[in-house]
Amino acid sequence: MRYKNYVGVFDSGVGGISVLQELRKELPHEDFYYFGDSANAPYGEKSPRVIRKLAMAIADHMVEEGCKAIVIACNTATSAAAPKIRAKYDANIPILGMEPALKPAAKQLPHGKVLVMATPATLKLEKYQKLSHRLEGEAEFIPVLCKGLAGRVEQGDLDAPDMLELLDSLIGPYRGQVDGIVLGCTHYPFLKRQIRTVMGENIPLFDGGAGTARQLRRRLLQHDILAPEDSPEGHIILDSSLRTPQEKELYETLLHTPIAD
Ligand code: DGL
Repeated sequence: MRYKNYVGVFDSGVGGISVLQELRKELPHEDFYYFGDSANAPYGEKSPRVIRKLAMAIADHMVEEGCKAIVIACNTATSAAAPKIRAKYDANIPILGMEPALKPAAKQLPHGKVLVMATPATLKLEKYQKLSHRLEGEAEFIPVLCKGLAGRVEQGDLDAPDMLELLDSLIGPYRGQVDGIVLGCTHYPFLKRQIRTVMGENIPLFDGGAGTARQLRRRLLQHDILAPEDSPEGHIILDSSLRTPQEKELYETLLHTPIAD
């Protein structure tokens, strides 16, 4: 068991590293094993059945290697696979997922107009449909299928001019017409600065990373498996299904890239 007592965190690729940053801030004494399935990214343009299969294989691997909890740091994989992964493992270890941050957006912007950027799969699946339906009347949510965007983040070079062009083609038409934006894919927090360049410096952005980190603390406490406050700083292992030196470097770089508020 290579990752005994580690918290397993996974995503289709590099996106979950934005969540890992929040987890590390909230829980500095925990050991984290991060796995990004970059060889199969993006998930958001695959069928739910394929996403489920890929996500389940990663969860199986994490459990076999001794992880004490799993964070599905991917909205797409959560929507497609969390119920199955929970049914298999949640009785023994905490399984946490992501949810597009519609609730915090509705709370901060009552009756506001809110764009929801997410992958095609996330927006099509039942979890999002139910959530947006439940919050109808609290805010107006406008879903934007961001095809291709997570794939561009996977390639790195977040400041390439064509990144701004892609963002402009996806969300530029809403400039000046919305009160806030939900980043419903864990790849997008790495693009906060670029999104503000396109949509205006002061536009409020919402993502689920910090909420998931607080939730993980609660679940580890409930299970009595929270690392003690006096233990040394935790280890972080970054792993990917794409095992090239360039990929390793990209993962490391993103772990140390400050994410704007
Ligand atoms: N990071 C993922 C999410 O939160 C998925 C991106 C993708 O692979 O399409 O939805």
